[in-house]
Amino acid sequence: MDQLNLEHRRALERANASVAAVAGRAASDPTRPVYHLTSPAYWISDPNGPVHFDGEYHLFFQHNPFASEWGNMCWGHAVSEDLVRWEHLPIALAPGPGSCDKDGIFSGCCVIHEGVPTILYTGVSPECQCIATSEDRLRSWIKHAANPVIPTRPRGDLEGFRDPFCWRQDGSWYMALGSRIQEQGGCVLLYRSADLREWTYLGPLFQGTTGVMECPSFFPLGDMWLLCVSPYAQPLYAMGEYTGHRFRPETEWLPMDLGPREDFYAPNSMLDPQGRRIQWGWVQVGPPGACWKGVLTLPRVLSLRTDGQLGIEPLPELARLRRRHQRWESLSLAEDALEILTDLPWDTVEVCAEFELGGAREVALTLGHVSPGRRKIAVAYDHDAGRLSCAERSGKFRVLPGEDRLQLRIFLDRSVVEVYANGRVALTAGGDWLGVGEGAPEPAGGGTVALRGRGEGVRASAVDVWEMASIWD
Ligand code: FRU
Repeated sequence: MDQLNLEHRRALERANASVAAVAGRAASDPTRPVYHLTSPAYWISDPNGPVHFDGEYHLFFQHNPFASEWGNMCWGHAVSEDLVRWEHLPIALAPGPGSCDKDGIFSGCCVIHEGVPTILYTGVSPECQCIATSEDRLRSWIKHAANPVIPTRPRGDLEGFRDPFCWRQDGSWYMALGSRIQEQGGCVLLYRSADLREWTYLGPLFQGTTGVMECPSFFPLGDMWLLCVSPYAQPLYAMGEYTGHRFRPETEWLPMDLGPREDFYAPNSMLDPQGRRIQWGWVQVGPPGACWKGVLTLPRVLSLRTDGQLGIEPLPELARLRRRHQRWESLSLAEDALEILTDLPWDTVEVCAEFELGGAREVALTLGHVSPGRRKIAVAYDHDAGRLSCAERSGKFRVLPGEDRLQLRIFLDRSVVEVYANGRVALTAGGDWLGVGEGAPEPAGGGTVALRGRGEGVRASAVDVWEMASIWD
């Protein structure tokens, strides 16, 4: 092993020891989500390098193993057999003293090149692109001796030069990199390579007017290509045509998730062996002073619907986490609220509610604990305004003409909640406001589901509530 990799191994030992020392405390924190992917302790941010190899799914993530705040960026690592239950593995990559990634291992991707799992990441600083390979089923990583493989920027007027996202096409590797052209706006740079080591710059794949287009992801969906970027603001996507090494949007730019940047950022995705496009995003949640900060969203399946719109749905296999269940049918929602009681824990549940809208102007569903004065989570659809909202976050969403029904899937996991509506939009909300009331843990068990409708003939055809199991058991 060369000197740089020896130093790297020592850096990994220090990082893993730091996390191990507080992992028990993080796991027993009652505010910490249990069925969303978290780091064993401390800071987690961007999902990195999701990949399927040799019967296992791997998901890496930006991780500070020393504190619950951004810094010392490493790649944390989790492995799964089904994308639902996860196990933590030791940290995959850490900054190497004296090397081109001494100040951080920033975001990137993982691909399989000639049978060899290869991570492409941004080394800092200055920002440069690096690779690392594994010979032992992704358990340990060797940084390439010739790093950085892309040492310098292709032009002098760029701000930001990071977050490689690679794909294979027509016998070559392509890489999208996030950047911004000064005085102009955010852009995604395009490179090509035969071997992941030598790269040729092909020009901007896309140029816009935003901030640095961090964490670009670019992939085909049906007969379209989708570009998603995180431009220092709510992540946006557009679908369009990809020819001549240029992406031309044919749709408007839409939010990837209706939540604000703090609640959904830097999404990354992979193609699974069945050809599904699966995406995760980063939710910046966690109470001050805790020894954990941040979660990843549930895995989401993206698809191109027959109506040309993007489909966003929770991974169907998440149903494996469902435990005790209660179901109500055919509830008629008059002008007043209807409250139903459940003995399931109120804050680790999936709720699936189907509304027949009739002449509805608004429908709302509120989850809460039976004891009065406890915090409640309200999800509402305002048909007049075309808005979906949850816990003070909201975004544009309208049931399509002729759809006449609203299907809500709500995943509440202590301090994070994800709402999916009609398979077309997702809204993530994370907050300290969820997990505990006034500093005290919520009393166990006992939940309420309150339903409300405004307008004529609003009905809930079915409401299902499941208790959800932990993904670590
Ligand atoms: C996005 C980002 C990336 C960068 C990483 C560093 O959240 O700023 O552009 O690679 O985080 O942690």
